Amino acid sequence: LFCWTIQSFLHSAEKKPPLLPRLFSHARGMRKKLIAGNWKMFKKIGEAQSLIKEIAQGAGDLGGVELLVCPPYTALNAASEARKGTQIKVGAQDLHWEEQGAFTGKISWDMIRDTGAEYVIIGHSEQRSYFHETDDTVNKKTKTALKGGLVPVICVGETLAERDGNRTMDVVSTQTKKAFEGITKEDATKCVIAYEPVWAIGTGRNATPEQAQEVHAGIRALIQSLYDASVAEGMRILYGGSMKPDNAKSLLTQKDIDGGLIGGASLKADSFLAIARAGL
Ligand code: 13P
Repeated sequence: LFCWTIQSFLHSAEKKPPLLPRLFSHARGMRKKLIAGNWKMFKKIGEAQSLIKEIAQGAGDLGGVELLVCPPYTALNAASEARKGTQIKVGAQDLHWEEQGAFTGKISWDMIRDTGAEYVIIGHSEQRSYFHETDDTVNKKTKTALKGGLVPVICVGETLAERDGNRTMDVVSTQTKKAFEGITKEDATKCVIAYEPVWAIGTGRNATPEQAQEVHAGIRALIQSLYDASVAEGMRILYGGSMKPDNAKSLLTQKDIDGGLIGGASLKADSFLAIARAGL
């Protein structure tokens, strides 16, 4: 009788979505984990095709997570072709906020869509520190990506000096608030956030699961205050910064960590797949 009662309770809950999915959002996997590889300035066309094939071949048991790879622009089209018939999605690493024009060296949402890519990383700390990315350009790019039908993966994160100065949440909140300025609730639900502490990127020194969870929970609370609880509950917040097969599980099992944005360890199929498996 008990089982039957629970079963019929869950069954009736399925017909009435508003309350229960919220209560069971984790248990029921409302936020499917997103395991994303940021290939940065690595992989030529042929290498990108081979890596995607290798990932696809090993991903048979990974239906429970979403897989994304973000190659350099030059390999986007080849990657989009190579991913056909697989569960792997493709994203770009940046875009310009204008649709076209005299902007030497830049690429528009339209061109990215034209390659077959569906996602775009925005505001990566390497863009912020080496290429004059500001909160304002992150906001413009996010709006453009959304208008163009690309899923923005918006990166935020503090430097070591900011963490040591106890300013982590201030910095991350300001970056997040500015990124979402003028973005409607409906569009906000399409976004992904990546928390990448700058001091953990490429250093082999990851944030501890507790440090990351604390910031992720803070970002989710901020999204709730900017929009509402349902936007906050649905928002995927990825962790990035020296995520590897041996630390992935402890990070990905934190309540508010919904995936990873992986640099170094995404350049080989076995380590990328091992991290993805830790997200199941
Ligand atoms: P690493 O995983 O190499 O630290 O890079 C993280 C990153 O910058 C992903 O965007």
